[in-house]
Amino acid sequence: MYRIGQEEIDAVAKVIEQRSLFKINKKLQETMHAEEEMKALFGTKYPLLMTNGYAALTCALIGMGIGPGDEVIVPAYTYISTAMAVVSAGAMPVIAEVDETLTLCPEDTERKITPRTKAIIPVHIQGFPSNMDALMALADKYGIKVLEDACQADGGSYHGKRLGTVGHAGALSFNYYKVITAGEGGALLTDDKTIFERALIYHDSSAVAYFGNQLEDVETHLFCGSEFRTNEISSAILRIQMKRLDGILADLRRNKRAMMEALADVCSFIPSHDIEGDCGTTLALRFDTAEKAAAFSVAQGIGGTVPINTGKHVYCNWTPIMNKVGALHPLMDPFKMEANRNIVPDYRADMCPKTLNLLARTVYISIDPDWTEEARQAKIEAIRKAL
Ligand SMILES: Cc1ncc(COP(=O)(O)O)c(C=O)c1O
Repeated sequence: MYRIGQEEIDAVAKVIEQRSLFKINKKLQETMHAEEEMKALFGTKYPLLMTNGYAALTCALIGMGIGPGDEVIVPAYTYISTAMAVVSAGAMPVIAEVDETLTLCPEDTERKITPRTKAIIPVHIQGFPSNMDALMALADKYGIKVLEDACQADGGSYHGKRLGTVGHAGALSFNYYKVITAGEGGALLTDDKTIFERALIYHDSSAVAYFGNQLEDVETHLFCGSEFRTNEISSAILRIQMKRLDGILADLRRNKRAMMEALADVCSFIPSHDIEGDCGTTLALRFDTAEKAAAFSVAQGIGGTVPINTGKHVYCNWTPIMNKVGALHPLMDPFKMEANRNIVPDYRADMCPKTLNLLARTVYISIDPDWTEEARQAKIEAIRKAL
């Protein structure tokens, strides 16, 4: 979380004073307004707020009609939720290497495409934009969908378009650790009416037909899905956070740019597919050995993170996926379903050596949008000294 204050407190107070906490209401209608504002801010036709980013990923996959018998390619470096969303849709996550930018490698993605591949999920990890031109070209070539996991990249962009709106659908997260936050929260972004309608039904299948006129223009028939409905308190907070978004990004980017300029003579930074669109949350240094990266990360005043040590962000630590336990009940487990019999992947801890090598040789330094000039300079000096 970067910025939160009196405006959010006032917005929440208003919702409580009006006693209108349910998403559909005739009073403040925070969720309705938040979704309208998202259309303008993100440049998307059908934003759908829900409980979290995992829900948005799952609903997008369901919206794309993905299910048992289908393969979905995910990067070896992403939070486990990305792969879990694929399993929740009944499909098989196929794990591909990342490139030097730590986002999905188009070449390895192409190697892993089969006739069963229905979608790929580029993840804009740490706000680093994926190579969307190459991945969209693959999608066109093979007739598959692209779902952008922009959960760590709220508001970032690729060639001037917001991340999450370049592919066929995108997912944002507003949990506590994201660029903007409502404590928890997520949004599906899409311009595709069919994806939206299916996601709308899936995200709130018990109630969507009973409150307001949510199904007025919907052609998709009702089906049993899940319950990922948002609420007015979250939406009220999010409306304020969205007003803060571009200011937060501008200050993150300004600080990151200043750090990169000041350290250009001594640092090797990881490359970017669009440094202008990068969220600026993270300065990422690349070392020639894992030992040097590890030593630098703990040097005085650095407070660095080596991404190989970030637990469930690295595929070999996705325990239930690696062990192929897709559900508590075996009959509901996609890894054991007849439709997936011939496509259950052979996951191995060493299956993506390039990703492991890159992660072990990288160090992240978090950028603070509210650094004073002195604080930023102190960080620069610490980095110089440690190097
Ligand atoms: C890359 C990525 N995808 C998906 C998610 C899931 O988001 P949420 O926690 O809102 O469900 C996260 C959350 O940390 C994430 O980092």
